[in-house]
Amino acid sequence: NVLILDFGSQYTQLIARRVRELNIYCEIHPYHKIPENVSEFKAVILSGSPFSVRSEDAPHPDLSEIRGKKPLLAVCYGAQYLAHFSGGKVAPSATREYGRANLSFVKEDELFFEKISIGSQVWMSHSDTIKELPTGAVRLASTADVENAAYRIDGEETYAIQFHPEVYHSTDGKQLLENFLIKIASVTPNWTPDSFVDTTVAGLKEELGDDKVVLGLSGGVDSTVAAILLHKAIGSNLHCIFVNNGLLRKDEFSSVLKQYEGMGLNVKGVDASARFLDALAGESDPEGKRKIIGRVFIEVFDDESNQITDAKWLAQGTIYPDVIESVSVNGPSVTIKSHHNVGGLPDFMKLKVVEPLRMLFKDEVRRVGASMGIDKELLGRHPFPGPGLAIRILGDITAEKVRILQEVDAIFINGLKEHGLYDKVWQAGAILLPVNSVGVMGDERTYEKCVALRAVESTDGMTADWVNLPYEFLQKTSNDIINKVKGVNRVVYDISSKPPATIEWE
Ligand code: XMP
Repeated sequence: NVLILDFGSQYTQLIARRVRELNIYCEIHPYHKIPENVSEFKAVILSGSPFSVRSEDAPHPDLSEIRGKKPLLAVCYGAQYLAHFSGGKVAPSATREYGRANLSFVKEDELFFEKISIGSQVWMSHSDTIKELPTGAVRLASTADVENAAYRIDGEETYAIQFHPEVYHSTDGKQLLENFLIKIASVTPNWTPDSFVDTTVAGLKEELGDDKVVLGLSGGVDSTVAAILLHKAIGSNLHCIFVNNGLLRKDEFSSVLKQYEGMGLNVKGVDASARFLDALAGESDPEGKRKIIGRVFIEVFDDESNQITDAKWLAQGTIYPDVIESVSVNGPSVTIKSHHNVGGLPDFMKLKVVEPLRMLFKDEVRRVGASMGIDKELLGRHPFPGPGLAIRILGDITAEKVRILQEVDAIFINGLKEHGLYDKVWQAGAILLPVNSVGVMGDERTYEKCVALRAVESTDGMTADWVNLPYEFLQKTSNDIINKVKGVNRVVYDISSKPPATIEWE
């Protein structure tokens, strides 16, 4: 296992993902909370940081349990940190060094740079530079602008690099991590989807014994993979609840329910559409809608889980990005203690929580799902927001508007699939706008609804670009929608990126 100490860099999670790509398990911990079992980790990586080592409030953890005791790789801020506090000198660079650079010197016969040669492209992002190396350091690489691009400490397994191996533009970054972790630190690359499934299922069996577990399925990747893992461990003691909030895609409730039953899951489908639509009537504020949907969901889920006698656990599909404790530039982040108001919580929330995916990144969830034989189509589904079509119907919600949007959305999504575009898009959907516009159909003047289509590329939803869908596809989709969906006479395509726009319109 590898420990990544986070100093607040925007790239820290990327380091973890690259390490995991090497089939090596790693964990991210904030620099000010070095785990007590630090001696059990096989290697440690220090991340970059928005701080300067020269500033008063710069992170300054005690590394005495790490440095010299186990293989250590210090990236960017980490490299400056080791230099600054161990006899070297760090100063502001003349210019901010940002972007691509190429190695102009690489020391020969170094395991760390095996299979990496002069000319290799690296990604720089720093405004301080290491002017003088720390005591005992040997320079390993330079670029035209950065003399001390990499060094190691003699007599220790301590390595430091100014560039970012985790960033895709560092073309040999993965090789470098492999050199450090596998060749130098002798970490065994045994973290594979299959091994994860085996150890997790065994762990769940032990933890849960004969207890009953309740899980809310959403039709999405995370809850599905969590359910299958638990099902492998405890079989029919897993009770799944799949709630139809009436805001799902067309026919989704019945088709996904069928799919779940086909997987052998013990699942109860609860059609609460009317309850949600009643509660939403007249509400047009986006946050208001989200609150209502959240509240009704909890009521419905509570009613259902109370019917499962003796349930002891609530399973959730939480994944790693949701649980990593982030380092904020404004000081350590505050964790909200939700158990302070246990008295007012619904019954199911008093259950113990089990989260089998809490150490996985999204792409790993998919790989674990695939290794357990979950249908590829289900694993490749676009993300879909919890409040569903409610936040894609701008303004208030009625059953008729939901029906119109479901039809439009189905034409768009099925069209993407038929044209082989679905998997090239990260997320897509249709939005029902609160405007009517004039049109003509035959001799008749119409005054009907306008819909927007949205398709974006993204990796995590934090930033997104609109997708350049072929004109022919857009033309056909628009025709199909206007000809087939009564009540719609105009289709527009959203060409805004995030930021400054968001993916959803509400
Ligand atoms: P935005 O609109 O913020 O969306 O760019 C980013 C991602 O989050 C999803 N999203 C939500 N998911 N409940 C959810 O479960 C919500 O209230 C919600 N709002 C946005 C959105 O679909 C996109 O994937």
